[in-house]
Amino acid sequence: AEILRVGVAGLGTVGASVVRLLLRQAQALAARTGREIVVTAVSARDKGKDRGVDLAGAAFYDDPIALAAADGIDLFVELIGGSEGPARVSVETALAKGKSVVTANKALLSAHGSALAELAESRHVALAFEASVAGGIPIVKTLREGLAGNSIERVYGILNGTCNYILSRMEAERLSFEECLKEAQRLGYAEADPTFDIGGFDSAHKLSILASLAFGARIAPEAVEIEGIERVTLADIDAAGELGFRIKLLGVAQRTAQGIEQRVHPTMVRKTTAIAQVMGVTNAVTIDADAVHELTLVGPGAGGDATASAVVADIADIAKGVRSAPFGLPSASLRKLERAPAALHEGG
Ligand code: NDP
Ligand code: HSE
Repeated sequence: AEILRVGVAGLGTVGASVVRLLLRQAQALAARTGREIVVTAVSARDKGKDRGVDLAGAAFYDDPIALAAADGIDLFVELIGGSEGPARVSVETALAKGKSVVTANKALLSAHGSALAELAESRHVALAFEASVAGGIPIVKTLREGLAGNSIERVYGILNGTCNYILSRMEAERLSFEECLKEAQRLGYAEADPTFDIGGFDSAHKLSILASLAFGARIAPEAVEIEGIERVTLADIDAAGELGFRIKLLGVAQRTAQGIEQRVHPTMVRKTTAIAQVMGVTNAVTIDADAVHELTLVGPGAGGDATASAVVADIADIAKGVRSAPFGLPSASLRKLERAPAALHEGG
């Protein structure tokens, strides 16, 4: 079979898992795609670090931008992180050189996704980002392809594994916020700077990507109203519990009479609802749409293997020659709506 030469930049929690999964599933992927998928080059900061994966056959680049430009790769996989710096420049470089890109980087997409999508379209290459929202849940494909025949009213859910893990563990184990955050970091769920998780910004990045897909609009992170979970205490969780509620960090994007609303904040949800049962690093995304009515996807929202599952699905699509327009054509615009301030909002 013809070889697809893959360059992987970033060999941390997600990058090392992607290389491992590609090796483990090599035969099945070749059968499914008709191509032999081979990691021919990698990039990270520390060449000497043991990453528990065999990289012997791959060329090592200190500079991910040089890897993105290298003639020896057909597809560039960005798993470094950050909306600027080497992640942004390497993705731009690969696209400008006519190479398809796969990324899990929601911060980058939220800030520059529409421009990167235009660059990819102009070069007739793919920009794929299934792993950027809700880890292992195939929500991008579901919204873009699976629900193509629907008009979407609302997309909402639990979009950050770290926050849901923290809130769940605080309640179940009576642990402090700080202890739970440390554990989420140890397990590889948290962002390099966990302020993105607990401050609600990571959920906002993901919500802005979902809203763009659902409503056919340019990505507008500045239009998301954001409140994080930093101030949620065990006493708040207990007080909510006594009233029959649980606190969840929700992201909501919906059509309103004034336009499309996007918001992220801690929400009181009744313990009897399905969303209240979603515990730990699990994410859940519900879509309200005219033809399908209501659809919920639940699954692992963070972690190496789960995220690698989504990255590898994108790589397999590109190996098969699938090139979806990243966000479709913008038809609406997303702007911030006026609404009353509130600390804890009550949900269904
Ligand atoms: P890590 O911090 O574990 O890994 C980052 C990797 O990037 C490391 O291998 C690091 O090298 C490398 N790197 C950093 N800076 C440079 C640089 N200047 N040049 C070359 N390599 C560099 O991050 P994650 O794997 O957790 O996350 C990667 C991306 O995936 C991020 O965009 C994140 O938001 C996203 N993501 C993460 C999920 C998760 O569960 N962790 C889930 C979904 C998305 P070295 O190892 O040598 O330090
Ligand atoms: N830090 C993110 C989370 C990783 O906890 O959800 C998955 O995008």
